[in-house]
Amino acid sequence: MAVRKASGAVKRRKIRVDLGDRSYPIQIGSGTLDEAGPAIAKATGASQVVIVTVPEVGKRYAARLTRSLKSAGLKVHRVVVPDGDSTKNLRELARLYDAFLEFGLDRSSAVVALGGGVVGDLAGFAAASYLRGIGFVQVPTTILSMVDASIGGKTAVNLKQGKNLVGAFYQPSLVWIDIATLRSLPARQRAAGMAEVIKAGAIWDARLFSKLEKNMKAALSLDPVALVPILQRACAIKAQIVSQDEREAGVRILLNFGHTLAHAVEKKLGYRKVLHGEAVAMGMVFAAKRSEELGFAPDGTRERLENLINLAGLPMALPCFPRRAYLSGLQVDKKKTDKHIRFVVLHKIGKADTVRLTPEEIYPA
Ligand code: GLY
Repeated sequence: MAVRKASGAVKRRKIRVDLGDRSYPIQIGSGTLDEAGPAIAKATGASQVVIVTVPEVGKRYAARLTRSLKSAGLKVHRVVVPDGDSTKNLRELARLYDAFLEFGLDRSSAVVALGGGVVGDLAGFAAASYLRGIGFVQVPTTILSMVDASIGGKTAVNLKQGKNLVGAFYQPSLVWIDIATLRSLPARQRAAGMAEVIKAGAIWDARLFSKLEKNMKAALSLDPVALVPILQRACAIKAQIVSQDEREAGVRILLNFGHTLAHAVEKKLGYRKVLHGEAVAMGMVFAAKRSEELGFAPDGTRERLENLINLAGLPMALPCFPRRAYLSGLQVDKKKTDKHIRFVVLHKIGKADTVRLTPEEIYPA
C-alpha cells in the first residue's frame, strides 16, 4: 500500500529499466515535480538543459520545473512546440535544432521532454540526433506517456508518407513521473491513457487487470493511493518487456495488442477525431473477440475486457467502415512482414502471443 506523507503526497517509488550500461530509473510519485531538478542533474551530469514542452503544459508546470533545475545549479532554456500529433514533423525538428544551437547546447547538455507522447517523441529524437546524441530525460504529464511512450526509448517524427517513419531507439537517462500533473489532464485523455494500462494487464498481468476492475473509478479520479500502485505496475511491466527486447524483435511486439486495428481506425477517422487510447480500446475488444473465434482464448475473455474498458468510459465498438477500409488500413501496418501481420492474440487475461495472419484472416467477411 502506498504510504502518505504528512503533505498528503504519496512516497516516491523507483522502477529500473535494465539495459546494461544504458539502464535508467523511472521515479514515480505524487507532488514530486519540485524535486525533479537535482535528480535530472545527477542522471544527466548536464550543465545546461532545454525543456521542450507544449503551451498548456508549459504554462502550468515549466516554471516549477525550471526553478527546481536552477536550484540544482543548471542553466535552463525552454522551447514551446504546438500541441498535436502533426507537430512531430521535420520542420519542428529543425526548429528545435536551431534553438539548441542558439542556446549553445553542447554534448554536456540535456533535453527534458515535459508533456505527453508527442513532445517525448519529438524532443527525444532531437536529443538522439543533435551532435550525435545529448542527454535526455522524460517528464511525462499524461497517463499514456507515463506508462507507455516515455519508457523504452522509441523516438520519432512523422513523414507525409506515414507515422514514425524517421526515428531512433534512444533511451532517456531518467523518467520522472509526478502524477499530480495529471490533475490538469481532461477526463477523456485520462481514460484514453488508461487503455494502455488495461493493455498491460491484459497481455502480461492478470493481477493488475483485477486491480483495475476493483479500482478503476478511484484511479481515474486520481486518488494517489489507487493510482500510484497501478501506474507503478504498468510502468514495471513496460520496463520488464523493454529490458527483455529493446528493439522489438520478440516480446515487445505484445505491446501492440489492440494496435493493429487501432492504427487503421486512427488513419481512417483522423488523429483529431479519435484519441490513440480510444482507438486502442476498440482494437483490443476486436482482438479479444478474434482470439476467442480463432480458438486461442476461452469464451468470456472478450466480455471481461469489454467490461473493464466500459468501466473506464472508453469506446468498445469499431466504427462501421466498409470491410475494404479496414483491409487497406491493415495493409499499411508497418509492423507487417510480407503479406502477413504479427497479430497479437490473448490466450487468457494476463497472457498474450502473436500469430501470423493475413489482413483477410484478421478481418474476415
Ligand atoms: N508503444 C509500444 C512500444 O513502446 O513498444
